[in-house]
Formats: sequence, structure tokens, C-alpha cells
Amino acid sequence: MVQKKLKAAILTSGGDSPGMNAAIRAIVRASLFHGFDIIGFLGGYSGILDKKYVQLDTHFVGNIIQAGGTILRCGRCKEFLEDEGQEKAAANLTELNIDVLFVIGGNGSLTGAYKLDKIWPGQIIGLPGTIDNDLAGTDHTIGFFTAINTALEAIDRIRDTAYAIYRIFIVEVMGRHSGFIAQSVGIGGGADEIIMPEKPFDLNKIMTRIERAKNRGQISYIMVVAEGVYEGGTPAMAKKLSEYGHESRVCVLGHTQRGGSPVASDRILATRLGVYAVESALAGADGVMVGTINNQLVGTPLKETFTANKTIDEYLYDIHEKTVV
Ligand code: ADP
Ligand code: F6P
Repeated sequence: MVQKKLKAAILTSGGDSPGMNAAIRAIVRASLFHGFDIIGFLGGYSGILDKKYVQLDTHFVGNIIQAGGTILRCGRCKEFLEDEGQEKAAANLTELNIDVLFVIGGNGSLTGAYKLDKIWPGQIIGLPGTIDNDLAGTDHTIGFFTAINTALEAIDRIRDTAYAIYRIFIVEVMGRHSGFIAQSVGIGGGADEIIMPEKPFDLNKIMTRIERAKNRGQISYIMVVAEGVYEGGTPAMAKKLSEYGHESRVCVLGHTQRGGSPVASDRILATRLGVYAVESALAGADGVMVGTINNQLVGTPLKETFTANKTIDEYLYDIHEKTVV
């Protein structure tokens, strides 16, 4: 009996992250190696709803492993948030004879993948594509390493001016509702303060530490602050510090953390997970996200990835105070 040629599809969704293209490349090359036919939906879930897609061949994914962003574009699709949108997506996937759907995205995208998987008979494999690193089921997400390197380059530059003119520098980093970027960037950047949503902080105690540092002759003070932790934002935090005599400046790194050529760790992680996703599909996996735990390739049920509580590194949290002046 002639075996039916499997037809696969890929989409990238939500906040783009450096390394998504490396993952797309790995999925396409491994799918073609295993005899799949494969298409790429354009613009996230909207691509399914609007049937906007491209046929993917080996040349389409040539020379992209080093490119930031995603050749399939991402996007946020309000229609897919609704049951009707998910049902329309399921119907379109069936009409297009898709057997396997690879979804590369963050917790929102994987939530959508979980809901779609419940109503569509095909296989859905998720890949952790977000700079936030806030998905359970993987030690690191695709894009995280590049985002922290980008932020560290910025902090090293800020440190120069902080030494030249004594000021408190508040560097705001992304992470949505998590502090993984802030913690890694804070430790790697030698920050004096690391403020994350996962841990309480007291601005008065911080000001006491600033005073103590000044009295010890420290001539710069750098704070890495995760977005959204302070009411009114980091400008309000800087204003408060300045009112108490600690002249402060804010540097919001924002979307620069989402861009740039992926660093080696992200390219390698994306390639490992892309191939593993295809092999998992071949083995019959469905409704899972691929990831690495202790560097071992694993599959985690989609629902766990965005519901389980992923915690920051407590040891790094504990040792920070021992590493500052
Ligand atoms: P990320 O995947 O980076 O967390 P978003 O949270 O913006 O990004 O989600 C991206 C897309 O995933 C949304 O535009 C929507 O199409 C889909 N999505 C997000 N949350 C849900 C949900 N609860 N139910 C269904 N689809 C969702
Ligand atoms: O989820 C990735 C992320 O960059 C978050 O860190 C950030 O809060 C959010 O996306 C920003 O979303 P947008 O690109 O829609 O401004």
C-alpha cells in the first residue's frame, strides 16, 4: 500500500524572537528529509483563517539561520481568541489536508495551539518561541539567549556613562509578567539591584543601599528592572529616587531585545527543537511542546507549558547580595 505523503504546516505567532528562523529552517529541512510536504502560514493564526500560506522548499529556508525575526511573520489574531475562530481554523486545516501543525510561539500562542488541538484531529507540536523564557517544559526558550546578550551590551555601554557622571541608572527589560530576563541580565551585567515581579522589593531599602554604596566610594549604581513591576513605570521610579537626592536616569531597552541575529545558543536550541519536533510528529506525538530539560530533549503537554509555575533561579537570587559592593 502506498503510504500517504504527510502534509505539514508551520506558523510563528505572538512576540517574535531571534531564532524563530533557525527553527523554521530545521523543521522544513527535517520534514523534507522525512518526505513531508510542508507549507508555512503567514502572520500567525491569521494565516490559517485567511488561508495565506507559502509552499516551503529547501531553498526557501536557505540563508536564514542567522536572521532575526521570522520569514513567516508573526502577528496577533483577535479572531482566533474566539471559539468560532478556532473552529474556522480547524476547518481550514482539514480542507488543506494538513496532518501536522508546528506552532512556534509563547504562552499565548501555545494556549491557542492547545485549544485548537482539542477540536482538530491532526497533530499539533509546539516549540517555545519567546524571549521571555516563561514557558514550563523547557529550560530555555528560543530567543532568550539573544535577548539577554542584547541587553548586556546595552548595560555595558550604560556603565561607561554611569562611571563618568555619578547617577543611578534604571535599565528596564522585557519579560511580560516574568523576571527571567531581568535576573540573567542583572547577574551578567553586575547590576547593583535586580527587580523582578517574582520577588518583593522596597524602594526605601534600595535607597539605603544606594547611600551605603556612595559612602563606600561607589561612583555608579545600576538597577535592572523588569517591565511592569513599579506602579507608574520606571520613569516614576526614577522620579521618586531623584526626589530623595539620588539623581536617576531610565533606559528602556524595549523591542531592541526582540531583534538582532540569534546568538549561537539560540540557533543550536532552535535547530535541535525543530528536528525533534518533526521526529516527535513522526512518532505520533500530539498536543505537546518540545523543549530541553537538563539538556535532554523532552515533550511536555501543551497545557502544562503555560499553566505550570516556572520559577526563577533561587540560588542566583540568594547570591546576588554577596556579589555587589
Ligand atoms: P505570545 O505567544 O508571544 O504569548 P500572544 O499572547 O500575543 O503572544 O498570543 C499570540 C496569539 O495567540 C494571539 O494573537 C491569539 O491569536 C493566540 N492566543 C493567545 N492567547 C489565546 C487564548 N487564550 N486562546 C486562543 N488563542 C490565543
Ligand atoms: O512576549 C514577548 C514580549 O516581548 C514581552 O517581553 C513584552 O512584554 C511583549 O512581548 C511586548 O508585546 P508587543 O510586541 O505587542 O509590544
